[in-house]
Amino acid sequence: MIRILCVCLGNICRSPLAEGILRRQAHENGLEILVDSAGIGDWHVGQPPDPRAIQIGISSGCEMTMSARQVQGSDFKKFDMILAMDHSNLQALNQWPDSDPTRIKLIRSFDPTAKDLEVPDPYYGEYSDFESVAEMLENACQGIIRSIKESNLS
Ligand code: 4NP
Repeated sequence: MIRILCVCLGNICRSPLAEGILRRQAHENGLEILVDSAGIGDWHVGQPPDPRAIQIGISSGCEMTMSARQVQGSDFKKFDMILAMDHSNLQALNQWPDSDPTRIKLIRSFDPTAKDLEVPDPYYGEYSDFESVAEMLENACQGIIRSIKESNLS
């Protein structure tokens, strides 16, 4: 089973939404994927996702019962793919000792229609910023599912 870790800064907005959406899409496509998420920082460890991320996730049929955790060294061995939300997350992941750059990618690199490859941080934004994040993640996750199906990795 392919194992995918979604990573953002705080693990309360973007990456839990990515986790929920990817898990839902995997289920809809009959694929068995182990999906998890984590944050670069430790400020919100143990907390549920931001209420706005929970609301948007639930409204699109995702389970949003996760709690925040920080990226740890064992993640780099456990996961086949580590998907960063923005360039700053990507850089932090690539600086980790023994990280394998071939497994670490920007999540939007799976969306062929994406012009900007970042999922912008919505934490200090409006509800509409969370809605656009969710739309970007739906498209990116469709690309991930497509690429897993094409490569027979599941
Ligand atoms: P996330 O958003 O990285 O999408 O979870 C953030 C949440 C909290 C903070 C930054 C980004 N923070 O600085 O506390």
